[in-house]
Amino acid sequence: MFRKGLKDVVAVQTAIASVEGDTGELRYRGKLVDGAIENRSFEETAYFLWNGEFPAKSQYAELKAEFTKYRKLPGYIEGIAQELPKDMLLMDAMRTLISAYATKEFSALPVIKQAAAITAALPVITAMLYRIQTGQQIIAPADHLSHTANYLWMLTGKEPAPAQTEALETYLKLTMEHGMNASTFAARVTVSTESDMVAAVTSALGTMKGPLHGGAPSGVIDLLNEIRTANNLDRVILTKLDNGEKIMGFGHRIYRTEDPRSILLRQKCLELQGHDDWLDLAVDAEKRIVHLLNERKPGRALYTNVEFYAAAIMRSIEMPPELFTPTFSIARIVGWTAHIMEQQSDNVIFRPQSEYVKN
Ligand code: COA
Repeated sequence: MFRKGLKDVVAVQTAIASVEGDTGELRYRGKLVDGAIENRSFEETAYFLWNGEFPAKSQYAELKAEFTKYRKLPGYIEGIAQELPKDMLLMDAMRTLISAYATKEFSALPVIKQAAAITAALPVITAMLYRIQTGQQIIAPADHLSHTANYLWMLTGKEPAPAQTEALETYLKLTMEHGMNASTFAARVTVSTESDMVAAVTSALGTMKGPLHGGAPSGVIDLLNEIRTANNLDRVILTKLDNGEKIMGFGHRIYRTEDPRSILLRQKCLELQGHDDWLDLAVDAEKRIVHLLNERKPGRALYTNVEFYAAAIMRSIEMPPELFTPTFSIARIVGWTAHIMEQQSDNVIFRPQSEYVKN
């Protein structure tokens, strides 16, 4: 039976995450995402997704040391970064550098170590490439900072305020994993040929780049800008709806109720409200837009999706739009590597059929 785009086809059984669209529940390893990430760092949440349990104290210390170790990139990786054309898209340059990890020595490491190494390295690679491309000096990693804080440090050369790190870390933890999606599928297909983790993550990065998947929340930023400039939210929204336009940051293919990630990001925004105009604007705008959508599109259950508050958070920490998809990848590499290991643990090659049709 042919299903275009494999829509609704169950291609994989997984213990890593589940997404319930009707009830709006996202679970990591069987645990509701809010409980799974609460009071946990990026590193601990990654460990949980990889191993199915949180690290004990000594394991956590080991993990943090490993993350710190792998922030120091092999010298040849920095050499390649310097040689790459400056006009490459960041996602393309990131894909090239991750691909260059495929040395015999690296491939001989246990897969769990490979997962930790490239997860730790990806933000370092991203910050380094961003600074090279924007003509700024590369900043060395800071061992005393967490994974998330170090990313902000290496991007800006300034130690981030705890609230900034917390806002970004909440986003990263919430977008690490979301069951089956195009990039995760690409990673699993690649590794199902008994290829390796580096090749699979390279495939995933290439897939994430497409606007239908890793599409940046920049549309939401344009919307919030428009609302702010017009100083008349109703007019902006109703004009768009009259013109048949979609309101960016609202609606979802799977969730028919509120996206749980959006609820948690909103909570974070509320905690930080008053610190930042963008967060204030987003929180105020959401209520009214949901009301207007419900009036104009009754019964369609249109709520904010993860992009809406992701955009507000990115804007509030002054993340440049060209870093949105790379930053999403820095989170999602955890899900990719977890799925790669799961695929390896019980592998059958993906080899679907095609149906010949005459043109
Ligand atoms: N603004 C206005 N109307 C919307 C809407 C939005 N953001 N999202 C859905 N609708 C409307 C549709 O026009 C349709 O109306 P109709 O019944 O009068 O034709 C109805 O709601 C059902 O929409 P549907 O097209 O079935 O939704 P979908 O599940 O196919 O699409 C999205 C989901 C995400 C593609 C869609 O909601 C969208 O384009 N949102 C804006 C872009 C965005 O935020 N993307 C990030 C997603 S994480």
